[in-house]
Amino acid sequence: MADQQKSESPVVVVANRLPVDQVVAADGSVSWTRSPGGLVTALEPFVAGRGGAWVGWSGSAGEAPEPFESGGMQLVPVELSDDDVDQYYEGFSNASLWPLYHDVVEKPEYHRTWWNSYVQVNRRFAEKAAEVAGQGAIVWVHDYQLQLVPAMLRQLRPDLTIGFFLHIPFPPYELFTQLPWRNAIVEGLLGADLIGFQMPAAAANFVQLARRLHDLPTKGSTISYDGRTVTAKAFPISIDVSVFDSLARSPEVLARAKQIREELGNPDKVILGVDRLDYTKGIGVRLEVFLELLEDELVEAPSTVFMQVATPSRERVEHYVHMRETIEQQVGHINGVFGSTSGPAVHYFNQSMPREELAALYRAADVMLVTPYRDGMNLVAKEYVAARGDNGGTLVLSEFAGAAAELKQAYLVNPHDKDGVKKQLMRALRADPEESARAMKAMRRYLAKHDLEHWAGSFFAALQEEAA
Ligand code: ADP
Ligand code: G6P
Repeated sequence: MADQQKSESPVVVVANRLPVDQVVAADGSVSWTRSPGGLVTALEPFVAGRGGAWVGWSGSAGEAPEPFESGGMQLVPVELSDDDVDQYYEGFSNASLWPLYHDVVEKPEYHRTWWNSYVQVNRRFAEKAAEVAGQGAIVWVHDYQLQLVPAMLRQLRPDLTIGFFLHIPFPPYELFTQLPWRNAIVEGLLGADLIGFQMPAAAANFVQLARRLHDLPTKGSTISYDGRTVTAKAFPISIDVSVFDSLARSPEVLARAKQIREELGNPDKVILGVDRLDYTKGIGVRLEVFLELLEDELVEAPSTVFMQVATPSRERVEHYVHMRETIEQQVGHINGVFGSTSGPAVHYFNQSMPREELAALYRAADVMLVTPYRDGMNLVAKEYVAARGDNGGTLVLSEFAGAAAELKQAYLVNPHDKDGVKKQLMRALRADPEESARAMKAMRRYLAKHDLEHWAGSFFAALQEEAA
């Protein structure tokens, strides 16, 4: 372990999760699989190409495995005990911060024990990053689980250049200030040289907080703090567009897409949703809207089917348990009323799927339905566009997803307005193929220029500028 850590990486990513999940088989043998989730999808190709290190949690409680090499990266596991998982991960990160930062879609809970655990675990991550980073290295810290790491790391290693990127939304002053530990979070983030957000409005929210809450001098996107200048700016994240495009054009994926439609009984229209099973994603809204369209006889099953793929996520957090039960009831109800011997109206999969299968599903879908109440970006929307090299398919997209600021030719919807979603979904289902091909082409042109490399490259260039 010590030897590996002495490799002193020039680039270190610090994120709650390693880009792999630990799987322990019945016989006790351990293997690793690539984890789902936007952060991993976005960063893995970038770090792997630069001989970097990735500090993160394995996904299992208990003793951390030794550091190991995987996909060209040095992976450095951080240990989380059962209590850390309860309090830092499921508690403060996912039952306080996650709902607070997503517009309080569910009510956040605040507990002092959760906060204490958050502080402790953030310190552990900072210490581990301080050990593996080479002299003058660039350290890039990620997401809401680790907002105290920048300041802790700066204290341990003032030679480092520190960037922070928040993958989820950053709430306005009026919501953020609910947080009993708001000052500590702002100070934690201010330890970075550059703080990246998905949207300009989120960066502006942070600058405003620094000014109003901490009385710090600010100018445009910069904040003067502790004799340094901290920059807060938007860097909308993207996906590896060309890789996804090629995958979705491969003969295997195209054959699978055809097979999927056949297995569904060759319906006229396939509507698709792909998400982590999270209450911010608005999966329930889609089901309600689909039910109403069936009741109104505007669509008919199984000539129109809705397929929802929902990866299990944060399954011990209460909000998630309730949501899953509700969604399963909705699916059961719709299929009970509108299913027939020819097949169900809703095909629901509470499963994670390989990327090839996702690409085939994207190719097989006529309408992609992405309806989060609030989402930092939403990579699924971008993956759908990247997969449609045939310029086929239409995208229905929530205006409250970061992606809506970029994929402007989508059918934009307000997920709180069910009639509005119904109307846009019907428009998407009835779209003129030439018109939707034009829209898809325009979105693909935009994405081709604004891919993952563009995102990481512009963040790094800005970070190096801060260091100069
Ligand atoms: P979030 O980061 O909130 O999960 P995003 O849409 O930004 O949402 O990213 C989700 C990522 O997880 C995408 O890359 C998507 O392909 C992947 N994903 C979502 N659902 C599944 C699934 N059922 N199986 C495999 N991967 C999935
Ligand atoms: C979102 C967050 C990531 C997180 C991912 C999966 O994309 O921004 O930080 O890793 O969801 O969630 P999980 O709780 O399983 O890590």
